[in-house]
Amino acid sequence: VPGNRPPAALDAITYLDHAATTRLRPEAVAALDRLRDSGVFGNPSGGHAVARRAKTVLEESRESIALALGCRPGEVVLTGGGTEADNLAVKGAARAARTRGLGDGVVTTAFEHKAVLASCDRLAAEGYRVTRAGVGADGVVDLDALGRALDERTVVVSVMLVNNEVGTVQPLADVAALVRERAPRAVLHTDAVQAVPWLDVASAAAPADLVAVSAHKFGGPKGVGALVVRAGTRLEPLVEGGGQEAGLRSGTSDVAGAAAMAAALEATTATRAAEVERVGGLRDRLIAGLRARIPDLFENGDPARKVASNCHVGVPGVEAEALLVALDRAGVCAAAGSSCSSGATEVSHVLMAMGLPRDDALSSVRLSLGFASVDADVTRALEVIPGAVARLRAASRATSPAASPSGAR
Ligand SMILES: Cc1ncc(COP(=O)(O)O)c(C=O)c1O
Repeated sequence: VPGNRPPAALDAITYLDHAATTRLRPEAVAALDRLRDSGVFGNPSGGHAVARRAKTVLEESRESIALALGCRPGEVVLTGGGTEADNLAVKGAARAARTRGLGDGVVTTAFEHKAVLASCDRLAAEGYRVTRAGVGADGVVDLDALGRALDERTVVVSVMLVNNEVGTVQPLADVAALVRERAPRAVLHTDAVQAVPWLDVASAAAPADLVAVSAHKFGGPKGVGALVVRAGTRLEPLVEGGGQEAGLRSGTSDVAGAAAMAAALEATTATRAAEVERVGGLRDRLIAGLRARIPDLFENGDPARKVASNCHVGVPGVEAEALLVALDRAGVCAAAGSSCSSGATEVSHVLMAMGLPRDDALSSVRLSLGFASVDADVTRALEVIPGAVARLRAASRATSPAASPSGAR
């Protein structure tokens, strides 16, 4: 793929779902091409020349990933994506702590990604005490509630760095200070999957013992991720076997995946400051244009605390699902709720946790930008979305003439 633009077949598409996934960055494609062209295919666990070449690529990739994430290469555990990294962090740390008799308390927030919430549910079924601290209407964790949930027997605290739906950045340094004071035995995990394109994770996640990232959110391949496991943090592995990844993730290593992730991460880090500026400008134009054309549109999450890419808006009286179908027909791809659910319509647990009325939650959509977004995407979105909203409102007025013109809030 030359540059960041899509191949011709996709040119007609306006892709506003970068928080769900991104296309491969050209640098990641080039890394894969280099491996193919140089014939690197070995199993890095072996001892012969072919294996050693693969091992060299794997370890160079790990070094590059470590540099970008602000840790030592030995602290990078490569995983099969963000979900696995979250599972390993939360379950692995809780089980290791209980085995050592340290306690059984697990604390998280109500609006984590399902990878963390389902891991916590599993732990609850195993007899751990799990508390989900609430979040405010601004999309930020309630630090008082979090603090109240912590005690001497808390062994894991998991608070995401950036929320995947509303894009709000969480106060991780404040969370860490609370944890160190009230739950000195606890390991702090942060799901930084949505943070990497927009925040310097090396510093933003520095207070955490465990940090999960996923390559496909920043231009790398799907099914490749990493968990930073800081020295001294104990984990029980989920996947056992040949002892790869310091025994924390057995299985023959995905050398090509690691190389492509490293290349994407390097490119992301090198261009981040400029991209935050550029994409933030696109997002601001998008939201201002939507507000001007749809006066009763509302925004979810505190705009001052969001990453540059996120535009999460609701239109009273318009069902998100119907709007997304209309947008898709017009070649505009967006999302509602979390991208990782099975496709069934369910109200967003994130918006419900933030206290949104159910109708507002069901009227909300996420338009997320990324490195491949350009000005024309915003122009097209502003051409299509207001018209689609007007048509849906007209249709609902026609079927229920008694309804108020803008729908009830
Ligand atoms: C915040 C967050 N955590 C975890 C994940 C899961 O990552 P993966 O898709 O690599 O399993 C996602 C993906 O949507 C996410 O947004």
